Amino acid sequence: MYNHVKHPCVQHKLAIIRNQETGHKRFRELATEITQFLCYEALKNVETAEVKVQTPVAEATCHKIATDIVVIPILRAGVGMLDGILDLLPTARVGFVGLERDEETKQPISYYDKLPYQVKDGTCIIIDPMLATGGSTVAAIDLLKGEGATNIVVICIVTCPEGLAAVDAAHPDVTIYTAAVDDHLNERKYIVPGLGDAGDRLYGTSH
Ligand code: PRP
Ligand code: URA
Repeated sequence: MYNHVKHPCVQHKLAIIRNQETGHKRFRELATEITQFLCYEALKNVETAEVKVQTPVAEATCHKIATDIVVIPILRAGVGMLDGILDLLPTARVGFVGLERDEETKQPISYYDKLPYQVKDGTCIIIDPMLATGGSTVAAIDLLKGEGATNIVVICIVTCPEGLAAVDAAHPDVTIYTAAVDDHLNERKYIVPGLGDAGDRLYGTSH
């Protein structure tokens, strides 16, 4: 299942972040800004609890988020989305999943993970700007479910039909929030038109 966020504020920023002329400083800022809009959408059904708050005038019935939020960036590019979420949700916990696509096979290789125990009962938000074949996202979800997580959403900036189908086949209970569903993957398994290599563009490591 996926939710394509078509709000003009998101689409305007997407037009700038895709542009090959956008440098890494601005790219990072835009990744943060787009992530915040997507996170807002992704948490629209998060569990809340009623609380009473005394205003200067009277008692108000309010609602506060009532679940542990655990944000899980997929290293390395997912880290470029982390600050945006932590600005919105300063008490969120953070777990890390290190996955890198093998250049030849395009399969994800796991090299690190560190997850808080709260993934089991909390709301887990996996973040990675690119969901291409879906292999990395599926591997991250597998890992979280192996730790007992049952409430998982994914936020990416750009994806494509192949990646959405792969995640849906493996984990139909997980919803993906994205700013773009692009056309296809090329022979190098890059998203077309996409935005290139997100990690390189975020960290200024393009050759
Ligand atoms: C990119 C991207 C995803 C993955 C997407 O990371 O950030 O993690 O590829 O591809 P997939 O859907 O086909 O698995 P990459 O492996 O380039 O590592 P990096 O973030 O360290 O640059
Ligand atoms: N990883 C990226 O950074 N970009 C793509 O298009 C595919 C995988």
